[in-house]
Formats: sequence, C-alpha cells, structure tokens
Amino acid sequence: MKLIYVAGKGGVGKSVTSAATAIWTASQGKDTLAFSMDPAHSLSDIFDVDIGSQPRAISDHLYAFEPDIAEEARGFFRRYKNIFTALFGLFEVEVKPEDFGNMPGVSELIFMDKLNDIFVEKKYEYVVIDSAPTAMVLPLLQLPSITTGFVTRMLGMRNKWIGVLNLLESGFGDSILKEIRTMRVKAETMRNALIDPETASITVVTIPEKAAVEESRRLIETVESHGVHVSSIVINHVIRECDCQFCQRKMASQTSYIQELQNNYADKRIAILPDYGAEVKGDGLMQVAQDLYEKGQISI
Ligand SMILES: Nc1ncnc2c1ncn2[C@@H]1O[C@H](COP(=O)(O)OP(=O)(O)OP(=O)(O)O)[C@@H](O)[C@H]1O
Ligand SMILES: [Mg+2]
Repeated sequence: MKLIYVAGKGGVGKSVTSAATAIWTASQGKDTLAFSMDPAHSLSDIFDVDIGSQPRAISDHLYAFEPDIAEEARGFFRRYKNIFTALFGLFEVEVKPEDFGNMPGVSELIFMDKLNDIFVEKKYEYVVIDSAPTAMVLPLLQLPSITTGFVTRMLGMRNKWIGVLNLLESGFGDSILKEIRTMRVKAETMRNALIDPETASITVVTIPEKAAVEESRRLIETVESHGVHVSSIVINHVIRECDCQFCQRKMASQTSYIQELQNNYADKRIAILPDYGAEVKGDGLMQVAQDLYEKGQISI
C-alpha cells in the first residue's frame, strides 16, 4: 500500500489534485481510496457524488471516504475512554464526546487513528489523502514522541500513581496504560509509514504567488526536518498564453515565482497546472490527471 499525502495552503487546489491523483491510479487498475482528512470535506463536491462516512466505491477501482468527525470522535472517545476520563478529570473539564472532535488538534488525532485502521487493513493499493489547509501532517509526525514521553512519564510514575488510579477504580490505571500503548503503536506505525519513501510520498500544492510560495517553503522545511521527503510540487492556477495586459502582467509575476520554485527545489518533481478557467470537478478531473501524470510532469 502506498500513501500519497497532498498538502498545502488553503484554497490552492489540494482537493482537486487529490481527486485527480486518485482517478489516475484507479484508471491504471489500482484499487485506490481517496481519503479526506479535512473536517470541511470537499471530495463529494469535486467528484460530484455523495460519498458519506464509510468508504464507498464510486467508480472502477476508486473508493472515497469522508469520515464524519462527530461520529469518529465518539468512537475515538470510546476507544481511549480511560485516558480521556483521567485527563479531563485532572483538569476538571467536562467534555461531551460529540464536542470533542472540535477541540484544537483533536481532529488530527482522530484522522490519524482512522488512517491507521485503513493502513493496517491493506485493502487498497493507493490511499490518497486530501488534507486540511493547515499542515496536519505535523501532529501526525510529532505524535509518537508526545505519546512516548507521556508513556515514559506514566511508567516512571507507575508505582506511585497507577496504583492510586487502580485504587480509585479497580484496573483504571492499567487500562490507561494499555490505551496509551495502543495509541503510541498506531502513531509510530503511521510515522514510520510516512518517513518511508517506499510507502509514502508527499505532494505539496501551491500557486505562483508570494504568500503561497512562502508557506510552501515553510511546510516543506518543517516536514523534511521530520525526515519526511516531499517528492513533488504542483504549481496550480498558472495562466496560459494570453495577449491581454492583465494576463501579461500576471504571467510575468507568476513566471518569477515558478522559476524561484524550480531553482529552490531542483531535487523534486515540479508540475505546472494551468488555470482551467472554471471550477474543476466530475469529468474535468481526468484532464487534470492527464496533465499531471500522463504528460509525466510528476509520477506516482
Ligand atoms: N487549475 C484550476 N483551474 C480552475 N479552477 C481550479 C483549479 N484548481 C482548483 N480550482 C478550483 O479552485 C477551488 C479550490 O480548489 P480546491 O478545493 O481543490 O482547493 P483546496 O486547496 O483543497 O482548498 P481548501 O484549502 O479549502 O481545502 C475549487 O473550486 C476548484 O474547482
Ligand atoms: Mg480541500
């Protein structure tokens, strides 16, 4: 199984790139899952089909999945019930499982857990991950060290505190440790998958404008400092030849950012996608897939 993680700034074309990538691998006869990790899902709109909160076949070899964050939050809460009871109890906060998914950083944890389920199930040849505008990949990478630290501390305090927690409710402390270990194993599995270039590749989507290029630079720097290689960059919304003054000016500025990206990332595959002049969805995705993969600008 190969994971293709599509990241980038808000609105640059991540979902379109993810959907086109999934359509491409499926068209090559590879069972592919397009997995939305953005709580504000947009794959249904882009594929122009209802997807729903369970993986669903939408065409030959192509499946799509937009997990329902509230539903997944309840399942996640149940899975790690003892950890959350202890944590929320410690801070004296009352949290309803259905509100839990909206807490900062929690959706990343939930999606990581879900992605791990899909990863160990090994049902698909490719899983294309459409991410949220922020660099959600980071919490995924940092999670093992956070949980490892947590576990180490818990184990260090084991004799003192686990015993006390066990006294509060028989087996409570041990259940917490068990849940933390499960969480850690899952986080480590995903981290190991993401840092293995044979298993995972990251595609950064950007547009040829200052803010987007800057954000891509930061994203690539941070991700790579965690040992994850960014293999490809897609420069989207590039204006095609046009004689009007507006387009001429825009093309001149776009060209300088494209050159900057090409100079800075000579080690990566860089694809240029035109602005298609209208929103891209449904049947239009195959054109994007061909522009990216059939023309060999980037490869899987
Ligand atoms: N090359 C293109 N030409 C024309 N329209 C495009 C192109 N790429 C994307 N779009 C349109 O731009 C809008 C945003 O694209 P998309 O949803 O893929 O971005 P995103 O990065 O996933 O956004 P978000 O950060 O909100 O998830 C969509 O309406 C899409 O159809
Ligand atoms: Mg999107």
